Amino acid sequence: MTDRVIVRRPQVRRSDLVAHVTGFAAAVALFCFSSCVFAQSKGDAARGEAKSAACAACHGTSKSPPLAGMPALGRQQPEFLVLQMFLIREGLRDVPEMRGMLNGWSDRDLGDVAAYFAAQTLPPANAKADAALHARGAALAQGMGCASCHFGNFEGQRQIPRIATQREDYLVASLKAYRDNKRTGIDTSMNAAMYQVSDADIAALAHYLAHYK
Ligand code: HEC
Ligand code: HEC
Repeated sequence: MTDRVIVRRPQVRRSDLVAHVTGFAAAVALFCFSSCVFAQSKGDAARGEAKSAACAACHGTSKSPPLAGMPALGRQQPEFLVLQMFLIREGLRDVPEMRGMLNGWSDRDLGDVAAYFAAQTLPPANAKADAALHARGAALAQGMGCASCHFGNFEGQRQIPRIATQREDYLVASLKAYRDNKRTGIDTSMNAAMYQVSDADIAALAHYLAHYK
């Protein structure tokens, strides 16, 4: 039997998410209000490097890949990094491994660290791709319209992350977290995009993106 790629239209399960998103939107609006001037200025990457010595052990650098299950931050969109660090600092995104690590960090610190990681290149590519799984992932990504938000080459833009060449295990975990409503980002786009997507389809999407060229 051949695997058929099923194209789904995103649906939003509003009842589950609306309360969460309301509080969340307020927090993000407050953040924007307090730091829009900073968001428009470029962070100081040298200052960010000094500040982020402890982060590279898990997240990697240009020379070393991140640890298993940890997202690479190199070449990531700086505005996405700032926003995620803000969410983690404020306890709106729970990352047990990082609990308390951003306490006392100013918004300027977030911007400087984001500028540092965004300017990093990525470590050498992931192991060889499985051709069939890769092709299935490519068809799914096209059918599900991932590039309509993540843009050409899946490089992202502003608060939308780069997802090309991210670690495969992290992609699997994050896509499942959105599907299962365990992670909500700045809005519910990803929860809608992943609504009822199977584990097998998630595996194919992650494989394709991790090996994107
Ligand atoms: C002990 C390991 C560890 C350390 C040290 C660590 N992190 Fe993390 N970080 C994680 C994990 C694990 C995640 C992803 C959690 C998840 O699955 O949602 C994460 C997520 C992130 C994200 C979101 C990335 C994305 O693609 O969504 C950012 C940004 C981040 N960390 C920044 C930092 C910074 C800045 C530091 C240093 C102050 C740091 N981290 C230190 C483990 C770590
Ligand atoms: C309607 C716009 C939209 C669509 C369609 C979309 N995304 Fe996203 N995606 C986002 C936004 C916005 C975020 C950031 C959410 C957050 O703050 O957590 C995101 C985050 C992600 C992340 C988390 C990356 C990280 O580093 O933590 C992954 C992985 C991802 N998307 C993959 C996909 C895939 C695969 C598809 C297609 C099946 C897709 N996205 C479709 C808007 C979209």
